[in-house]
Amino acid sequence: MKDIKKIVLEKINEAKSLLQLQEIRIEYLSKKGLVNDLMKKISKLDKSEIKSYGQEINNLKQFINEKIKSKQDEIKNKELDLQLEKEKIDIHLDKDVLSNANKHILNKVIEDVEDFFLFKGYEIAEGPELETDLYNFEMMNLSKGHPAREMQDSFYVDAENLLRTHTSPVQAREMIKKKSKKLAIICPGKVYRRDNDDPTHSHQFMQIEGLVVDENINFANLKSTLIELINHIFGKERNVRMRPSYFPFTEPSVEVDVSLIKENGDENYIEVLGAGMVHPRVLDMAGYNPDKFSGFAFGIGVERIAILKYKIDDIRNFYINDLRFLNQFKGDN
Ligand code: PHE
Repeated sequence: MKDIKKIVLEKINEAKSLLQLQEIRIEYLSKKGLVNDLMKKISKLDKSEIKSYGQEINNLKQFINEKIKSKQDEIKNKELDLQLEKEKIDIHLDKDVLSNANKHILNKVIEDVEDFFLFKGYEIAEGPELETDLYNFEMMNLSKGHPAREMQDSFYVDAENLLRTHTSPVQAREMIKKKSKKLAIICPGKVYRRDNDDPTHSHQFMQIEGLVVDENINFANLKSTLIELINHIFGKERNVRMRPSYFPFTEPSVEVDVSLIKENGDENYIEVLGAGMVHPRVLDMAGYNPDKFSGFAFGIGVERIAILKYKIDDIRNFYINDLRFLNQFKGDN
């Protein structure tokens, strides 16, 4: 019996699966199994031996049962561990996520325009997005009740403060800072208007303001700067069109359109910026003598440039963070 115990124990210890254990159980404990065979021998035994022999067989049976059971538990635990390991969820951020990031298309446009102007010696200025009525309108020659205010009606915080409707208030802020010295600045930033969002309108968008003030600045300087800028952004194959326009803070004023060839071959123009010669009253209010100084200013629509350059059909794409849209512009950082 001892030998049998030893052999079974070895077999059980070596078993690697529940199936193998089952086979061992059949070999030893089933009707046709070894233990039953041993039991059958009991009839041939002497009466005096029967009791102890029977006990030994029972003992063996119990032994095998217990060992199989504990091995079974061991195997089950191992399988569970394996499964848990397999199904483990790594809650850490993938280390590649950051290296896959790329610049937003609007930032690329802004940086391209900044490069162009920095090379020409302009400085980059900044202004607050929460602006006062004074800078957003009054200093830009839009007095209270001026009809042109309506076009830019915005989000007011109270009667005197609002989200800026354009980057032009930076013109007045920079002129006051520079205290009547010549200047050349650009200022990229967000602006807000009370528009209903649709494929061509957004209540929030971006502009790049430009302002040059010096003695003897004329319209030809403005025109050549803008044409050079557009050629820099789009290459020379696009046509540029200037239309007379009106802004209270520039006189004369223009709007500038850039051509877009549609798929059917038709030529379309899209307005990309407003510009003009700084109005003498704007110079005067900001402390510059309009008899001595003149200047030009422009305000570029960043989304418009991106729409034209990358042929984008819905302005809302810039803001909804859809990776399918953003990933199209991967790479050319
Ligand atoms: N501020 C004008 C706008 O938002 C654009 C502009 C800027 C026009 C500077 C002329 C000069 O529409």
